[in-house]
Amino acid sequence: MKGNIILCGFMGCGKSSVGRRAAVLCGRELCDLDRYIEEKAGMTVSEIFARYGEEGFRRLERQAVREVAGTPGLIIASGGGTVLSGDNVEAFHNERGLIVLLDAPLAALQERLKNDKRRPLLQVPDRRRVINELYERRIPLYRAAADVAVDAGAPPLTVARRVAKLEK
Ligand code: S3P
Repeated sequence: MKGNIILCGFMGCGKSSVGRRAAVLCGRELCDLDRYIEEKAGMTVSEIFARYGEEGFRRLERQAVREVAGTPGLIIASGGGTVLSGDNVEAFHNERGLIVLLDAPLAALQERLKNDKRRPLLQVPDRRRVINELYERRIPLYRAAADVAVDAGAPPLTVARRVAKLEK
């Protein structure tokens, strides 16, 4: 059975849009982890943050990872914080998952996120600075968690083709 391909990286790096295209190219099913969590909870990610805080969201996220990691043959578009938890990385790796970092330049992320109205962590007045700080803090952690990185500073289909080439 094929192990899962897990896309990780900073908000706006293209995990969902690349994931959709890579799933078609590889003939795999896409699991978008945030959508999975939302469907199970019957609430949006923003509502979960508002009601239970980030801690509550992370709890649901860990549970979702445990549920999907063992279903083989998926492309999993993770959330921007998923692989920052060692438990989540271990759960993916225990089931032979390949963790792929979508590595997009900070300037591209800033541009893609500048008008975001959806992501709870970015609904702050000094968004540019928050993105810079989060990015600096997180990028080494993404690199440590990932088995491989692909350059994600290109259109989604180009990046998806790069991901599809990694199939085991
Ligand atoms: C988060 C990223 C979001 C979502 C949640 C937390 C993060 O996913 O999981 O808002 O901590 O970076 P996207 O990366 O798909 O926006």
